[in-house]
Amino acid sequence: MAALELLTAVRTRDAYANLALSAILRRYRLHDRDAALATELGYGTLRAQGLLDAVIEECTDRPMSRVEPGLLDALRLGAYQLLRTRIPSHAAVATTVELVRAEAGSRAGGFVNAVLRRVGERDEPGWVAALAPPADEDPVGHSAFAHSHPRWIAQAFADALGRSADPAAELDTALAADDARPAVHLLARPGEITAAELALVTGGEEAPYSPYGVHLPSGSGDIGDIDAVGEGLAIVQDEGSQLVALALTRVPLVGDDAGRWLDLCSGPGGKAALLGGLVAMDGGTLDAIEPSEHRAGLVRRATDGLPVTVHQADGREAPLPDAAFDRVLVDAPCTGLGALRRRPEARWRRQPSDVAGLTALQRQLLTAALRHVRPGGVVAYVTCSPHLAETAGVLATVRRAHPKVEQLDAREYLPGVPDLGDGPTVQLWPHRHGTDAMFLALLRREE
Ligand SMILES: C[S@@+](CC[C@H](N)C(=O)[O-])C[C@H]1O[C@@H](n2cnc3c(N)ncnc32)[C@H](O)[C@@H]1O
Repeated sequence: MAALELLTAVRTRDAYANLALSAILRRYRLHDRDAALATELGYGTLRAQGLLDAVIEECTDRPMSRVEPGLLDALRLGAYQLLRTRIPSHAAVATTVELVRAEAGSRAGGFVNAVLRRVGERDEPGWVAALAPPADEDPVGHSAFAHSHPRWIAQAFADALGRSADPAAELDTALAADDARPAVHLLARPGEITAAELALVTGGEEAPYSPYGVHLPSGSGDIGDIDAVGEGLAIVQDEGSQLVALALTRVPLVGDDAGRWLDLCSGPGGKAALLGGLVAMDGGTLDAIEPSEHRAGLVRRATDGLPVTVHQADGREAPLPDAAFDRVLVDAPCTGLGALRRRPEARWRRQPSDVAGLTALQRQLLTAALRHVRPGGVVAYVTCSPHLAETAGVLATVRRAHPKVEQLDAREYLPGVPDLGDGPTVQLWPHRHGTDAMFLALLRREE
């Protein structure tokens, strides 16, 4: 029931699944295993929507557009259980039909029963073999279908993966990893708790690459229940986000680091919390920009007690001096294609037409960062998207207009992280690094 409510909230209110889920779990008072099951069913169904819809369409004799949306949610939830969980088929069908009968009457229940019985005639590989484009003719389309990604996103991943010994196989692995349930990653706030201590109190494991990271076992239920987060010792933050922010702090500057750091796109404040904690140790300060009032409030909360000043402003015309900052982070607003595994509904909401508007904004923000950084200082350009237009494309255009900017080899500032390609930029990947697909470029202003 909780999972079905989540699907309805995402469809009708355009809700973010993670926010809606927390509220639903609280309302049903679900904890531990029950919360983990509702999360798995709700998130799993949202992720798999494209694949499920193709199968459901094959199993109904009416067009999808004529299936009542509430029934379609129930069909998706039932089909998900049949194809992607170990819940016995008869139980998956019976509980879904029962739910629909109670809500919409016995005719609707009969329809759902008939469709789900047909869905259950094949397993997931059987449906992929029957319905996906053939792998030898259209490898991108085949992998997109099999791992339930829109084709344009699969193509963007393929483009960003670029050269590889076996591009089709690597794309398949990349999309499979992007479709899997990710472990929750925590940041041990610098100065508050060490990663080793945090691992101990949460039952997690120290992260492989970030000295501040902890990975929780997957299926940990509602993250609102983690005491260390509630007590302000840790925040939820992907290890890749930690690594790109840390890389910015590790680059040697020309001249002293006076500890004036700037986060130009800071909401909701995860990286500002990390940067603020680190700059505080050296007696420095961080200015954090965020135009949205709500998100600026979240940054204030995330950086409470740290030497961080939050400005509610547009990063393109921030009320801050030029040539004044030692280190500037541009964690640009982007399509988020690199963090889809953490936002189960996002892959079906994003459109290719979103890219052009975002790249224009990204170019302007990076240009503003190069204005605010002092000569000899460094700018990190970061996106949680591997889409080439948002990464290499933005970088190339801005660098053409700024010949006095040196591009640094970002790989040097991620010590111990394997498989970083040819540089000088870094693209992290879920299937290679167990992180979100974060992109990082490091630029030094020469004069
Ligand atoms: C990828 S998020 C940043 C995430 C953040 N650094 C963190 O680690 O929590 C991008 C942020 O940029 C903000 N943003 C959008 N337009 C902006 C602009 N013109 N100037 C500055 N920030 C902007 C968005 O509201 C969003 O909060």
